[in-house]
Amino acid sequence: MPARTAARILDGEARGALQRARSYLPEQLIDAVEKSGLRGRGGAGYPLADKLRAVRRNADGRQPYVVANGYDADPGSPLARTLLARNAATALRGIAIAAHAVDAKEAFVYLHPGATEARAAVERAIADHQDELGIAIEVALGPGGFMGGEESALLAVLESRRAMARQRPPYPASQGLNLRPTLVSSIETLAWLPLVVEEQVRASTKLVSVTGAVSHPGVYEVALGTSLGDIVSEAGGTTAKLKGLHVGGPTGGILNATRSDTRFDFDDLRVAGTHMGSAQVRAIPVGTCIVNEAAKLFAYLARESCAICVPCRVGTKRVQGILEGMYSGLGRDSDLPWLDELGDHMERFSLCGFGITAPSILRTTMREFPDDYRIHIQDMRCPEGSCTPVRSRRYETMAQP
Ligand SMILES: Cc1cc2nc3c(=O)[nH]c(=O)nc-3n(C[C@H](O)[C@H](O)[C@H](O)COP(=O)(O)O)c2cc1C
Ligand code: SF4
Repeated sequence: MPARTAARILDGEARGALQRARSYLPEQLIDAVEKSGLRGRGGAGYPLADKLRAVRRNADGRQPYVVANGYDADPGSPLARTLLARNAATALRGIAIAAHAVDAKEAFVYLHPGATEARAAVERAIADHQDELGIAIEVALGPGGFMGGEESALLAVLESRRAMARQRPPYPASQGLNLRPTLVSSIETLAWLPLVVEEQVRASTKLVSVTGAVSHPGVYEVALGTSLGDIVSEAGGTTAKLKGLHVGGPTGGILNATRSDTRFDFDDLRVAGTHMGSAQVRAIPVGTCIVNEAAKLFAYLARESCAICVPCRVGTKRVQGILEGMYSGLGRDSDLPWLDELGDHMERFSLCGFGITAPSILRTTMREFPDDYRIHIQDMRCPEGSCTPVRSRRYETMAQP
């Protein structure tokens, strides 16, 4: 997918930033990062300055690592690939600046195995800028699959283990790669650092992948706070009347199209019941059954779950089964509170962001598209006339409410 809009981190070079950063003491540098308001672009929006301080605080004589997460776990949101293919040198400068802030001498750029163009661009930029960068930067490839991008799973991969999450604390900032303090930051977050240092600007934009029923699907850079409707317009407008906007990738919620004034921002999206996640905005046209959409998402999540914790391993499978039963004409009113309860368990007891955020699909669709659920359950037909039954009996594993 091509990036279409020229903007800050896609095009900014900040060639002198690294030299300037090295003229600061690490603490001064971190203060400048704090002033810029830079929040993690990998989904959760955690302030970068706090993470940098935590890595320094926990170093205790051990040499920290920097891991730049450029994995693009969501296949529909190739943000890091787009950024690296277009502006790898700036991203690498960002990694070197972060390394200065935490006193790291080694860094990794962690990529999806399918990101061949981005990988070539990074390797070229490392060779071209080795003297300027001044630290060892290595490219590492993940396994493929959605969980390969989760921070504790990616650290397991870098230690030659399977991409499975682990309990936190301890966080990577205190016990990361090889049990050393490790800064794991999205490549998009780190690419802001040269601009923050050289131009002392606020980190005001975010990459977004616009997909679905729009004229020009692709990766765009937009100001944080842009409305979802304006983001869709940026992608050439819609190709059909919209029913919903799916925001945040595979674990993201689906908002009714009437809420297109929702601001694309970490906090506003959370208030709306979804999250930034992979920063994909997918335009869903009228004629799409939302129960079916939710079932497809849970089928994907059930396949991709690393399966190490019960709430997610069992929860994703059960929700998939209940939703498939519902759109196969086997739904009951009692399925709705059951879905709510499963969502509660996943949110409260899952080990990583995958299982904690997935229930936003249930919360938003049940709240914003109640008729799709009601018509499937009570009238036993698809509201859009599009669902084909996939189950001949209900998904029953135990006594049900
Ligand atoms: C299932 C899952 C997949 C993820 N995939 C990515 C990814 O591809 N790229 C990324 O930067 N962060 C991803 N994250 C978030 C990382 O765990 C981590 O929070 C992030 O890399 C930290 O960077 P930040 O502080 O710059 O946001 C994923 C999280 C989850 C739960
Ligand atoms: S929430 Fe899901 S993906 Fe995350 S650790 Fe548990 S089983 Fe693995």
